[in-house]
Amino acid sequence: METKNDRAAWLMGGTAQCSEAPQKPILARRLVLLGAPGVGKGTQAEFLCERLGACHLSTGDIFRAAKTQDPCQRTPALTAALDYMKKGELVPDETVLAMVSERVACLRCQGGFLLDGFPRTVAQAEALERLLESEGIQLDAVLSYELPLDQIISRLSGRRTCPGCKAVFHVDALPPKVQGVCDHCGGKLYQREDDRPESIRVRMEAYEKLTSPLAQFYRSRNLLVSILAHGTPEEIFSRTMATLRTQ
Ligand code: AP5
Repeated sequence: METKNDRAAWLMGGTAQCSEAPQKPILARRLVLLGAPGVGKGTQAEFLCERLGACHLSTGDIFRAAKTQDPCQRTPALTAALDYMKKGELVPDETVLAMVSERVACLRCQGGFLLDGFPRTVAQAEALERLLESEGIQLDAVLSYELPLDQIISRLSGRRTCPGCKAVFHVDALPPKVQGVCDHCGGKLYQREDDRPESIRVRMEAYEKLTSPLAQFYRSRNLLVSILAHGTPEEIFSRTMATLRTQ
């Protein structure tokens, strides 16, 4: 069974170390993945990690990993963050920024990175810009995935996630080899609680209001690259790689 890097340094923070340090690729890529909830950022991140050797840094995955901790060990800010997430609302900027700052070593990783779900507000994008500048790191591109809302909703409602390695499947479009079982680690797949219809609506509203202005933010810095997110995951990945080859 294929195993993946456990991303412990990113998911657990503190002194946690990844089980396997990423190899230094010929060209380390530092990318941000932008797009509405459910457009397929996490799915593309998995393909990109495999091809580019970069690490998948998802802020949503940090919060979901925190859910598995003993509640007594969570900070009050983290407990509040999980409540925001359950309702589909954004976690406050200061909580998110504190978590990313604690994991700044992941941004320096020699394998490069794919930031997924961060930044999500203009304040977060400005903070990331300052953080990268202070570390002497430059972003290569911001990949913005675009798809009509009805298709996004069908992707979200069929999504199944692995609690162990965080791999993402879809009941129709990307089914696991054995129903309900992760192809990578054998974990039991589950449906995220924020994939219920009432949370999906709140997430889409938050995206429109707070995250969509980031397209203009990065366009003005000549970093934004738009990618059509229709078709199969493999087709979108080919489109993404073709775009990256021109960068
Ligand atoms: P997060 O985990 O970041 O979720 P999201 O942005 O809402 O994105 P998703 O993970 O829902 O979707 P995705 O685009 O990755 O799609 P996927 O590849 O899974 O955040 C969750 C919450 O955490 C937020 O709501 C917020 O509360 C909090 N949070 C996190 N970061 C934050 C921040 N920076 N600031 C504030 N709050 C923050 O694909 C979806 C489904 O479609 C899957 O089933 C997949 O198999 C399927 N699929 C993918 N591609 C295709 C295809 N081409 N065809 C058919 N199906 C496909």
